[in-house]
Amino acid sequence: MKQSEIKERIIKLKKEIEDYNNKYYILNQPIITDFEYDILINELNTLEKKYPDFFTEDSPTQRVGSDITKQFEQTEHKYPMLSLGNTYSEEDLKDFDNRIRKLYPDSFDYVCELKYDGASISIIYSNGRYKQAITRGDGTKGDDVTLNVKTIRSVPLKVTGSAMPDEFIIRGEIIIPRAEFDEMNEERKANGEQLFANPRNAAAGTIKMLDPKIVASRPLDCLVYYLLSDKLPCDNHFDNMKLAYKWGFKVPDSIKKCKNIEEVFGYISFWEKERGKLPYEIDGVVIKVNSIAIQEELGYTSKSPRWAIAFKFKAERASTELLSIVFQVGRTGAITPVANLKSVYLAGTTVKRATLHNADQIAMLDLHESDQVFVEKGGEIIPKIIGVDKSKRKPESKTLRFITHCPECGTPLIKKENEANHYCPNYLHCPPQIKGRIEHFISRKAMNIDGLGEETIDLLFKNRLINNVADLYDLKVDQLIPLERLGVKSAENIIEGIKESKNIPYYKVLFALGIRHVGEIVAKTICKNFNSIDDLISADIEQLTNIHEIGQKIAFSIKEFINDSENIEQINRLKSHGVRFEDLSSSKKTGSSLEGKAIVISGVFSHYSRDEYKEIIENNGGRNVSSISSSTSFILAGENIGPSKKEKAIQLGIPLINELDFLNKYL
Ligand code: IVH
Repeated sequence: MKQSEIKERIIKLKKEIEDYNNKYYILNQPIITDFEYDILINELNTLEKKYPDFFTEDSPTQRVGSDITKQFEQTEHKYPMLSLGNTYSEEDLKDFDNRIRKLYPDSFDYVCELKYDGASISIIYSNGRYKQAITRGDGTKGDDVTLNVKTIRSVPLKVTGSAMPDEFIIRGEIIIPRAEFDEMNEERKANGEQLFANPRNAAAGTIKMLDPKIVASRPLDCLVYYLLSDKLPCDNHFDNMKLAYKWGFKVPDSIKKCKNIEEVFGYISFWEKERGKLPYEIDGVVIKVNSIAIQEELGYTSKSPRWAIAFKFKAERASTELLSIVFQVGRTGAITPVANLKSVYLAGTTVKRATLHNADQIAMLDLHESDQVFVEKGGEIIPKIIGVDKSKRKPESKTLRFITHCPECGTPLIKKENEANHYCPNYLHCPPQIKGRIEHFISRKAMNIDGLGEETIDLLFKNRLINNVADLYDLKVDQLIPLERLGVKSAENIIEGIKESKNIPYYKVLFALGIRHVGEIVAKTICKNFNSIDDLISADIEQLTNIHEIGQKIAFSIKEFINDSENIEQINRLKSHGVRFEDLSSSKKTGSSLEGKAIVISGVFSHYSRDEYKEIIENNGGRNVSSISSSTSFILAGENIGPSKKEKAIQLGIPLINELDFLNKYL
């Protein structure tokens, strides 16, 4: 390479890496994998070493990426928060071992830990009390997120135990376990909110939120991996960690002492195979010298300790041909590009499709028609395209561009500032938006209408029997019977299911309406504060945002929905059909329908919680009793009522009344 080309390459690499750093640390939207990032950093490092003339102090090789944001106060770390040297190769790991073994030929131990994939945190304790939590930031100073971290249940606020120094710092990783992450994303999907790319971004994004209440509602966990103090209790890392565990910190029991590098390799290959069984994601293994004295002697480079190294697992990847991109329209009008791929076998499954997230992603990858692309399956289930093999690109192949018009209804797309997605604004007439809204309305967590599913909705829509959620309640059995695939029985079931949905409580109805950003939890909160839809309709932005959990975004979304006369017309039609738009469990709604009745509640309920039923019973003159006796009037029986309770009720001849019958008869 010519000197000018080298210089150009270095400048390009620096710019690219800074851009990725910004996307990763500030926007929490990584667009390349760690593996790819590491390749770029290594290339830059090598070039800078070989051609020191082109080296500059501000090179990204010289600093750990920074996660500092402006919203938080910054605090200096007492001990710098460095990153780890990392490798993907066994050779490097052997070199690491040889280097240390040369200096310490007498035997020494390693400690192996999993490399938890989340956001690192440094927590200060003083006299056994939680004092402050700081993000890694640029390694020297980070954001003070004390109030947010305080909401994480696995972070103890008070610690007790033997040999605890008065002042110490514990470091760890804030993570979101896989199952909770999936649940959270499901909920976001239902609310029409942008999905998190993976648990790591969700954890990193959450810890930087401004409202600790929202942080508290997210399933964060904190796994601990390092203890720092001027007066450490033990002379080795392993025992310090075991002590920290006894004090109440979450130190995973996968931590292991290894006598030599062979044992370390055993640990790595075990976890490479078993990582899928862990409840959280890991991206490798961290190997540390156990002795604190040796750690101190080995010391640090400007970026990382010499006594530790991360061995990272390679995500499984394959190369295949991009066949086409389809643009899907969701119920909120959000456009999601999905790549159709030539089938390729990857990590145990055949992959035919990969998500492309949004327009930025397509532009960043610079995708062309029929490109040969690399797909990767990391911790996530849905594979993604992580790069293009440009050497295989045909010169005549054209750049793939994001669409400008809705593929379903032809309306020009819009993109709001600060949002990654494009939207089709044709809310009322774009078919997938109409169908999506109806599908959301009937879904299990919303109106839970038996007998109706995606296919039937499609069928009814195609036959022009429904065009909005209110139309469902006008349907008649006779209209359904002639439709393909529907017999008398299923037609009757559908109509019965729709009728039963009129008993669904108000908060579920509010959720079912599909107002953007109004998920199940928000809907419940609104119902607690505004007992009926009429109260909500007359509320202004200020009254809405006065509710603690409701911010501007939700309030404006509710107002936008209400200001649309078509929505109000539908609400009125639903009301006239008897759909509930009022909270019956509220203390205002009292009556005497249960006067003199002694009621036992048992089982699991779907419309109201147990406590709400207790309240309903009391508000309507009934008495809650805990055990069944001959004087019990009836049992309010949810799902999975215990067999012994059921048996006793039958023996004593006490009637069992299910949830819907109860609501119908007494409220
Ligand atoms: S030790 C000086 N141990 O990996 C000690 N780090 O690139 C440095 N990480 O930001 C950290 N699991 O947040 C250590 N068992 C573990 C870890 C771990 C995850 C993260 C850490 C750091 C990054 C290092």
